[in-house]
Amino acid sequence: MRPISRHFTEDVGSTNDLAKTYAATHAGERAVFVAARQSAGRGRMGRTFLSPEGGLYMSLLCAPAVPAAEAVRLTVQAAVVTARVLEELTGHTVSIKWVNDLYMNGKKIAGILTEGALAADGIHLAYAIVGIGINLAHTDFPGELAQLATAVEDATGVLLLPEAVERRLTAAFFATDVTDPAIMEDYRRRSMLIGEQVIAYRGEERFSCLVQGIADDGALLVLRDDGRTEALSSGEVRVKKQ
Ligand code: BTN
Repeated sequence: MRPISRHFTEDVGSTNDLAKTYAATHAGERAVFVAARQSAGRGRMGRTFLSPEGGLYMSLLCAPAVPAAEAVRLTVQAAVVTARVLEELTGHTVSIKWVNDLYMNGKKIAGILTEGALAADGIHLAYAIVGIGINLAHTDFPGELAQLATAVEDATGVLLLPEAVERRLTAAFFATDVTDPAIMEDYRRRSMLIGEQVIAYRGEERFSCLVQGIADDGALLVLRDDGRTEALSSGEVRVKKQ
């Protein structure tokens, strides 16, 4: 087995950027980049990921066993592994909101941002970076974020130390096979969206639909109000308010 190198920094813009710089000359290696704080933590859709001290901010560098078109499966793998580890350590249930958000008690506690670079063949990934951010310690989220996000400590009363979670997660991620069907089964079981009426946002498009399931490639299977079915492989959805 190839070794996993560990790179810790107190302060950084984004651990995904650190991993990307390293990967440019170390593709094929396995590594984890961790920071105590991030000043420019990023999420999907260009959002900021608030990263104060006490949370876990880590990026796993891997040589993925899936083609670039299926890179979302790495997000699925990381979401399931993170949910399992947090459940083991707190005894509280973790749900997943397609495609990359983890929830406890109805609020977001963690997010995943997977990035990568195409190999020369244009089909495979030269490397992938799986960024995981977890709000572990009590956090005062600003403005409307306070309604949407929470920390594991606030949701469960359990304060987890970032390094302990990071080490469990790193070991569990690299011990899991992204192509194992049990990963997708667990992802579906934890999904907060299946059976829900949602609004889907895809580029400029916005439409109402019912979530029917999640395909093996990670796409969200929906039934639009006009009767058409679609497999959403990008964008995001929000549960309709009753
Ligand atoms: C999201 O909520 O949309 C994803 C958030 C991902 C945050 C993690 S923290 C470690 C890594 N570095 C980043 O800048 N982002 C990811």
